Amino acid sequence: MSNYRDDAAHWEQFYRTHEFPRESSFARFVAGRLAMPTSLVELGCGGGQDSAFFAALGHHVVAMDRSAAGVDKARAKALTLKGGPIRFVVGDADDDAALASVFTDPDVREHGARPVALYVRFFLHAVPQATEDAILDAAQRDLDGGFTLAAEFRTDKDAALPKAEGVHFRRFIATQDFAARLRARGFAIEHLEEGFGLSPYEDEDPHLCRVIARAPARR
Ligand SMILES: C[S@@+](CC[C@H](N)C(=O)[O-])C[C@H]1O[C@@H](n2cnc3c(N)ncnc32)[C@H](O)[C@@H]1O
Repeated sequence: MSNYRDDAAHWEQFYRTHEFPRESSFARFVAGRLAMPTSLVELGCGGGQDSAFFAALGHHVVAMDRSAAGVDKARAKALTLKGGPIRFVVGDADDDAALASVFTDPDVREHGARPVALYVRFFLHAVPQATEDAILDAAQRDLDGGFTLAAEFRTDKDAALPKAEGVHFRRFIATQDFAARLRARGFAIEHLEEGFGLSPYEDEDPHLCRVIARAPARR
């Protein structure tokens, strides 16, 4: 496993050499469960294919990644989009001010009747648990009207399996531990599944967990 801090260089290089022209199967799964339109915050948006997909459907999207190369690609995708408003930010989820800026973005906060979703695909396993905790703390503080969390991540059962993209930082998350952390925060879990076949990539079929959970309103 490589060091989490050094991993920024991995992603910078990755987005210079990889293209993801299509949205993920998780994005399609989540889209079918969102009210129209939703204010959607994506963290770890990478090349922006899922954010662009949600905006094309008419959702209002604010997305952040710490990779400038990823966000450059994401912004290029958004240029040709007709749909809901979309904004990409280069920012680090370990920086509380960066998190607060996306969660308090006017398009997220001044949503009127629009519900809010926090979308994280292949992101929670790319950050340490302390970062996961900081993200959920900030979201529950700033999105005090409640929100839906949609997460897809690699489980502990994926740890020993072969990987298409070689060695870099990955935190393999035990599904029931994550579910317990959400319940301890007051989330109601609406959907929880884990298994193979959810998002095959090249010759890899990762063992993944999908969670949809509702954070309680605090105001
Ligand atoms: C496995 S990629 C997933 C990208 C995209 N969500 C997808 O499904 O294709 C993980 C992403 O998390 C980003 N990332 C890792 N740590 C981060 C942090 N602390 N703050 C913001 N982004 C981070 C990386 O730059 C990378 O784009």
